[in-house]
Amino acid sequence: VLLLISKLLIAYLLGSIVGSLVLGRLRGVDIRKLGSGNAGGTNAFRTRGWRFALGVVLIDIGKGALAAWIGLLAFGTSIAGETLYMHALACALCATIGHVWPVYFGFAGGKGVATVAGALLVLLPLAVVPLLLLWLLVIGVSGYVGLASVSIAIALPLAGWWLAPISQRTDVLLFAISIGVLLLFTHRANVQRLLAGTENRFERARVLTR
Ligand code: G3P
Repeated sequence: VLLLISKLLIAYLLGSIVGSLVLGRLRGVDIRKLGSGNAGGTNAFRTRGWRFALGVVLIDIGKGALAAWIGLLAFGTSIAGETLYMHALACALCATIGHVWPVYFGFAGGKGVATVAGALLVLLPLAVVPLLLLWLLVIGVSGYVGLASVSIAIALPLAGWWLAPISQRTDVLLFAISIGVLLLFTHRANVQRLLAGTENRFERARVLTR
């Protein structure tokens, strides 16, 4: 139990390293005061350009992957692989919580999509390509990144159910639903703007419906 708690704490602290806020601090900008106000890759791209956004996304994906990977480590104990996988799912959730409510940045972080993507690369790699395709498809049709992320939140439990190893299905499903609910919560302002017709649109990304 002590090992699990330590891992969860490390995952939360890793998650708190919000890419856009770390890079922003180095450059003297707080991205939370620009564009949509979100501390994430999309708003980094919107307000600072693709190089900055790439750095942001790499940090956020990287820490999500690292947190999940740490969850899988036994640290010299003889804990069963299935239990370690469960640890890793919990670590991924904690890293995402860290990203959304980061201890180093006044608990005001991002929305968690890139952090979740990084964790999925380690924990459920088969889900990454279909979810990425869905995300790109929604952006290509609508130009709304927020809508694409909401679609991911809804599709993740389905993907988890289909692609998880049978023995881990319940754990993965529980994880995916928690993440899905968290992502819907972090995108609540996007949903409101979408319904009001005021959501930021990347007109140039709407390549499929132009
Ligand atoms: O992951 C964030 C994205 O889904 C929406 O970002 O800046 O448009 O709120 P933003």
